[in-house]
Amino acid sequence: MSAVLECAGLDAGYSNGRPCVRGLDLTLAAGEVLCLLGPNGAGKTTVLNTLAGLLPRLGGTVRIAGAEIGSGRARKASRAGLVLVPDDRALFTGLTVTQNLELARKRSGPAVADIVEYFPRLGERLGVRAGMLSGGEQQMLAIGRALMQKPTVLLIDELSMGLAPVIVEALLPVIRRVADDRGTAVILVEQHVRLALATADTAVVLAHGQQVLHGPAAELAADPQRIERAYLGAAEGATA
Ligand SMILES: Nc1ncnc2c1ncn2[C@@H]1O[C@H](COP(=O)(O)OP(=O)(O)OP(=O)(O)O)[C@@H](O)[C@H]1O
Ligand SMILES: [Mg+2]
Repeated sequence: MSAVLECAGLDAGYSNGRPCVRGLDLTLAAGEVLCLLGPNGAGKTTVLNTLAGLLPRLGGTVRIAGAEIGSGRARKASRAGLVLVPDDRALFTGLTVTQNLELARKRSGPAVADIVEYFPRLGERLGVRAGMLSGGEQQMLAIGRALMQKPTVLLIDELSMGLAPVIVEALLPVIRRVADDRGTAVILVEQHVRLALATADTAVVLAHGQQVLHGPAAELAADPQRIERAYLGAAEGATA
């Protein structure tokens, strides 16, 4: 299957220093869910923000469906189909659920009813202001807003931020369904490793800004010690 996202040799970081992510290669096919794992400070958010054009790239290339995306161009990246659900969810808290969804809608994007099909709970809350929603409902709305933009690649940072595991367990299958139904590729940053691996096709572990492990999610789920070693920063092939 041909790649929808090709990210090669990505260096990323902040203006006043050396790259904190170095030489990252990521390739995703349509409908593929990749979970990006790693300890705090590994560079996961930096990768997503750089792919979404919120941070300029310090090196490397990013292509969506073969077309190169310029560095640090958030509007262009989103128009090209790279859509971020940030960890703070970025909702208009004073506007209703419907208004939040409609404002995000790209031309030829889905209808509110299509989003409600994925998240029936939102259907019961359409007239409620986003600031009055529960944490789980707010995350549903944040994902719904991203879907209104017809993403080719959906970037989700910390799906579970502030949510009980039971809510995360309910949300992850919806992400899987979106990927399967719509062919949307997904990069999922998630702290619940077991749940993330059960949802994803592939997994990458970042430690200290470098990829230390990459493989099929099911294979990695069967070998938790390999993941643990990677979290400690041990690259595959390195001797303990
Ligand atoms: N705005 C910033 N300015 C300078 N350095 C930053 C900034 N944000 C993050 N960093 C640094 O970049 C590195 C990677 O941070 P990043 O937020 O990408 O990690 P993360 O993997 O998302 O961690 P977490 O799991 O805690 O969310 C860290 O060393 C962090 O201190
Ligand atoms: Mg982060």
